[in-house]
Amino acid sequence: MPTARERMTAALAELARFGARRVAVYGAGRHTELLADVLAASPVPVVAVIDDDPARAGGRCAGIEIIPPQAAGTAGVEAVVISSDAHEEQIWGRRGRLVDAGITVHRLYHRPAATHYEQGWDHYARHWRPDCRLAWDGREQGWVRAADQSDIVHPGDEWAEADRAVERLIRPLLTPDSVVLEIGPGSGRITGRVLPHCRELHAVEISSEMIAALQRRLGSPPGLHVVKVQDVDLSMFADDTFDAAYSIGVFVHLQMEDIFRYLRELRRVLKPQAAFVIETVCDPDRPRHWHNFLKRVADIDAGRRDDPCRFHFISESILLKFCGHLGWKMELREGIRFRSLKPPAR
Ligand SMILES: C[S@@+](CC[C@H](N)C(=O)[O-])C[C@H]1O[C@@H](n2cnc3c(N)ncnc32)[C@H](O)[C@@H]1O
Repeated sequence: MPTARERMTAALAELARFGARRVAVYGAGRHTELLADVLAASPVPVVAVIDDDPARAGGRCAGIEIIPPQAAGTAGVEAVVISSDAHEEQIWGRRGRLVDAGITVHRLYHRPAATHYEQGWDHYARHWRPDCRLAWDGREQGWVRAADQSDIVHPGDEWAEADRAVERLIRPLLTPDSVVLEIGPGSGRITGRVLPHCRELHAVEISSEMIAALQRRLGSPPGLHVVKVQDVDLSMFADDTFDAAYSIGVFVHLQMEDIFRYLRELRRVLKPQAAFVIETVCDPDRPRHWHNFLKRVADIDAGRRDDPCRFHFISESILLKFCGHLGWKMELREGIRFRSLKPPAR
């Protein structure tokens, strides 16, 4: 079992690796006092200790100034590590205010095992090389290496049609004042194109390696908040938070139950009547999709069964069933638009 020192050291090293510049720990108690030397030696500056007790604000713990949670945003804190073995769960449950301020929250003790999605996409991003643009060869009915490999710098640049997806699917949902949710931004290929057209963009991503690639591409622009999730998880957002949401190239990789779980949560966090858009179904009658399926069968024949990046067929009839159960209206346009049927609050 790792000790508190080892856990805190690893958490701070990971935050430094992913580019955090100002970190705070949450909890001005014995746990933090005992880690004073770990915090002092952190590779990323620990600029504050957050505590809920207003009487402690302005004091010091482990030699660091204590601030209340509501001051973390103005103190320029980008990430918070909960420093408590006894109260981690309660502090985790109250993290919404920090997340709303664009601050990521990390815990030391309860770290659920990585899902196969996380492992798979981390692996993809880690092993990605910039010479992998594929093109569909209609004659051969298969994917071949494209002649043009220019402009491929980050994982995902090899996937086509970012401009089209943004212009035709996402832009119609936005106003300059919109607060928007993206599921699965990957390296930020779509994110960077959407951000200039809304007020705030919150992106939830399961792969730390993809988040690192996103930060290499976009840096930390104002208005963009990236949240690392462990699973299908929007629990950090309050009800009725978002004006619109979208997800490009993600739902075709999710298992049915996880599509259902995301739709269930999305309906909660979207404002009444707001829309969520995905780009396509995965349809066995489309040659590319059918080809991907046969390739997958060949992979399993060759002993490679657990590819989390694989495509699943999503038919319109299944999505309609989900919509009926969960209170969405489905609109078929160029992509698929789900419009929340949630009644406005009275
Ligand atoms: C094919 S990539 C698409 C990335 C981006 N939307 C684009 O079009 O460039 C799928 C992304 O979804 C992320 N992802 C997979 N499962 C997820 C989940 N359950 N929650 C959030 N993100 C997830 C992956 O880590 C990966 O970055």
